[in-house]
Amino acid sequence: MSTPHLLPNGRVLRYSFHERLVHWMAGISYVYLLLTGLAFWSPWLFWIAAALGGAAVSSQLHPWAGLVFVLAVVRMYQLWGAQMKKTPADKAWLEAMPHYVRNEDESMPSVDRFNPGQKILFWGFWWCGLLLLLSGIILWFTDAIPWSLRFLRYFAVIVHPVAALLTIGLFIIHVYMGTAAERGAFGSVVRGDVSRAWAKRHHQSWYESIVGESSAKK
Ligand code: HEM
Repeated sequence: MSTPHLLPNGRVLRYSFHERLVHWMAGISYVYLLLTGLAFWSPWLFWIAAALGGAAVSSQLHPWAGLVFVLAVVRMYQLWGAQMKKTPADKAWLEAMPHYVRNEDESMPSVDRFNPGQKILFWGFWWCGLLLLLSGIILWFTDAIPWSLRFLRYFAVIVHPVAALLTIGLFIIHVYMGTAAERGAFGSVVRGDVSRAWAKRHHQSWYESIVGESSAKK
């Protein structure tokens, strides 16, 4: 992964092309899983499967889309896992949360590339992704599971929807934060860059390390 850096146009590279590609692999596959999963979950929502090509197509493609999603999340772990670890600075940030909620970013302690909220989201998707994978494989190959191991089926039918519901909560918060709440963030997963002011406002320690790095090179 290339180190985030200052771009010639004075902006800051937040996500490399590779990171954005992986992110959208997760995003697109997740939306497909969400829609087809909801269609199987409730008869009231079955029309979604009909709109997406029918029940047979949706139920055949759902597990494959699940594998794409998990692959993307595993790649995210390789790219960002080290930067998502808890640090002593996170505690101060979490304690100052009321300022964050009131949009008083200037009163927040500075954070590195990812704030604790983003870290919680990441680990939530990671652990729920693993549970969805395990339970999903059992549901995919149910017929191959002998009756003596039927507890695996009980595990899967409970864990799969519970983990999915947890990710839906994370997903709603994430999309709201990334589009409506934090202006300028969405461009970072599309074009890859953010303004210096955005980087300084939301991730001051990260911004300072980039500026320090680039002046050290001069
Ligand atoms: C499909 C709708 C989605 C939208 C509009 C969206 C939007 C965004 C935005 C704007 C950022 C940059 C935030 C920043 O750097 O401040 C971001 C980062 C990220 N996204 Fe998404 N995303 C979507 C789906 C997903 C899904 C399904 C996952 C599940 C793995 C995901 C995981 C992440 C992670 C781990 C990051 C980096 C940390 C963070 O900002 O939370 N995104 N996304």
